[in-house]
Amino acid sequence: MLEKKPLFNEQGERDAQRRRMIHGHPTNLIELNNVKYAWAYRLYRTMMQNFWIPEEISLTHDALQYEQLTEAERTAYDRVLSFVIFMDSLQVHNLPNISAVITAPEVNLVLAVQDFQEAVHAQSYAYIVDSVVPQARRDAIYNLWRDDPLLLTRNRLITDQYQQFVVQPTEENLVHTLMANFLLEGLYFYSGFAFFYGLGRRGKMGGTVSIIQYINRDERIHLVLFQNILRELFREEPQLFTPEMQENLRQMAAAAVEHETTWSAHVLGEGIAGLTAETVAAYVRYLANDRLHRLGLSPLFPQQMEHPLPWLTRFANLNEQKVDFFEQRVLNYAKASGPQWGEL
Ligand SMILES: [Fe+2]
Ligand SMILES: [Fe+2]
Repeated sequence: MLEKKPLFNEQGERDAQRRRMIHGHPTNLIELNNVKYAWAYRLYRTMMQNFWIPEEISLTHDALQYEQLTEAERTAYDRVLSFVIFMDSLQVHNLPNISAVITAPEVNLVLAVQDFQEAVHAQSYAYIVDSVVPQARRDAIYNLWRDDPLLLTRNRLITDQYQQFVVQPTEENLVHTLMANFLLEGLYFYSGFAFFYGLGRRGKMGGTVSIIQYINRDERIHLVLFQNILRELFREEPQLFTPEMQENLRQMAAAAVEHETTWSAHVLGEGIAGLTAETVAAYVRYLANDRLHRLGLSPLFPQQMEHPLPWLTRFANLNEQKVDFFEQRVLNYAKASGPQWGEL
């Protein structure tokens, strides 16, 4: 069992090189010129540079355009909002459970900023619902996460994976909860984002699209954060990453793909111009391959290594150079540290 670390430990270890992702003995003082995980401080600085405020983006025009959307588009808009509100709310509540057992103050620092950003995301969706959606439809959006049986089923899968670690904080369950986070940040949001970008591509709902672009930029950093935590754990606690565990992680990704494709087919139907359930399913399979590759795991869908919706990157890559720069640095760091992730 993993125990929550003490708040402060006067016998704690100040030597950063002896720091560990779990089972370490830090003092808990935040000393940013004395860190082991240099990528964490770099991510922190990027996140601070990316600070944004939802109310700076006007939604007045979106409120008018919402009335001119087709009913299929309006229904999809509401359903996607409902799911992303659920996920960001869940993140706000769950991230402290993970941080409580991570014994690297520089990583705890980044998790704290992530938690703040998830709160901003949850608030952004509330701002969108209140500004764009007519009063009569708002309650349905906040209730859909439990009223729609398909949405409830997938939300349960995600929550159960998190809850399992809360109830039984074993090392294995930590790995599972980290993977569940990684998939949430790297896969679950993306078909919803694709729907909004599809509207944006056709000149619709520009304010909503801008907000989603800012959220997307944050989620990409969160993905890198969880990728790096998992990689450090692979290196420090190799006994946890048995062939069975690696297959387990692949199967978690397979279940995530199944839930995401079923859900996006349900949300999008065939009534959304430019986005079919099949192209979104191909996109989700492509993402799963990419996410597994980031962890050194083999792809689930080798036939889908190409991005099937290349126009999406124009929307998703807000501030791309900055993000890519950091992703590259992070990858380089991991390689310089010894392990070859591609061979795990
Ligand atoms: Fe978020
Ligand atoms: Fe996130």
